[in-house]
Amino acid sequence: MSNTFGNLFKVTTWGESHGYAVGVVIEGCPSGLPLAKEDIQDELNKRRPGKSELSSQRKERDEPLILSGIFDGKTTGMPISIIVKNEDTVSEDYEDIKHILRPGHADYTYWKKYGVRDYRGGGRSSGRETVSRVIAGSIAKKILIKNGIEVVAHVIQIGRIKARRPDFEEIKKNIEKNAVMCADPDAAVLMEEEIINAKNQGDSVGGVVEIICRGAPAGLGEPVFDKLDADLAKALMSIGAVKGVEIGLGFEYKDKFGSKVNDEFFIKNGDIKTRSNNSGGILGGISTGEDIVCRIVVKPTPSISKSQKTVDISEMREKEIVIKGRHDPCICPRICPVAESMVSIVIADHMLLSGVINKKIS
Ligand SMILES: Cc1cc2nc3c(=O)[nH]c(=O)nc-3n(C[C@H](O)[C@H](O)[C@H](O)COP(=O)(O)O)c2cc1C
Repeated sequence: MSNTFGNLFKVTTWGESHGYAVGVVIEGCPSGLPLAKEDIQDELNKRRPGKSELSSQRKERDEPLILSGIFDGKTTGMPISIIVKNEDTVSEDYEDIKHILRPGHADYTYWKKYGVRDYRGGGRSSGRETVSRVIAGSIAKKILIKNGIEVVAHVIQIGRIKARRPDFEEIKKNIEKNAVMCADPDAAVLMEEEIINAKNQGDSVGGVVEIICRGAPAGLGEPVFDKLDADLAKALMSIGAVKGVEIGLGFEYKDKFGSKVNDEFFIKNGDIKTRSNNSGGILGGISTGEDIVCRIVVKPTPSISKSQKTVDISEMREKEIVIKGRHDPCICPRICPVAESMVSIVIADHMLLSGVINKKIS
């Protein structure tokens, strides 16, 4: 069972939604990287549930406990191990569905594969596992920032509401101003309404998140199987509820002519640049030096309180289910820091693979 991701910047995660803690071990992080608990906490706070009525009301402090790999405020080059305790677990909420499969969730496939059903909050398939990804991502981000690279995720669609896409600096400024992580303030208001409406009807809603990486050098990515876009797609698709990944123009390429979408080259101050960036900053699996642009489609949260038809596996009979517990009516805002983390992990890993950075940060 693979709980490990990455080649040189290697991330192993563990933990279940209602277990004692969730955690991560990061191997291959260069030594000498300044790293404080606050760097990790800041990123975890972005992911934390219970911050508004738009997310699950589970109240977690998500305080990281650093067990190894950091000394005198810097990474040592040894495995970094960090845990976060699960403090606000209400496993009783899940008693009713102990033997009942939630449509759209991982209950059926986990039970089929392992024969064990950890019904408490979704077990390992819960969004709670993404705490570990965000911890690793916060460390990858520090490596990127030291190299002038930034990664930002923002919500561009929720249900029927689509956002205008401002420039990078405006996106960074605006996303903190609303609970939906949308850079278009007008659309953000409508998105909030869309989520509340769905929630009030006992339903949930999906959407689209865009992730932009600015400042990555040209040359990241390996030919053929470890292409940068292939690794990004795997990283992003491994997040629960993500059902599609686009790089650059993505599915919009389908009805275009090459003459309209090829990114033409020109020379600027002795450097080669492209006039457009339909390729999303990647050609032949290798970064061009332009912005790396990915989009993910996020499905509506499976756990809804509307009545649904399903099966009780203890009696092997069909049944209606009405799901209780605290759930995100829309996963998009909470997935932003997770998607930023996964992209940052991939970029940091490829910087090590390409030799852009080495095992010691000076
Ligand atoms: C950050 C995050 C939060 C999530 N919150 C919930 C939730 O509150 N309720 C729920 O049913 N699913 C939630 N999910 C989605 C499930 O984990 C996911 O749909 C499930 O594991 C099935 O996997 P699949 O949708 O990728 O097939 C969340 C996912 C993420 C990444």
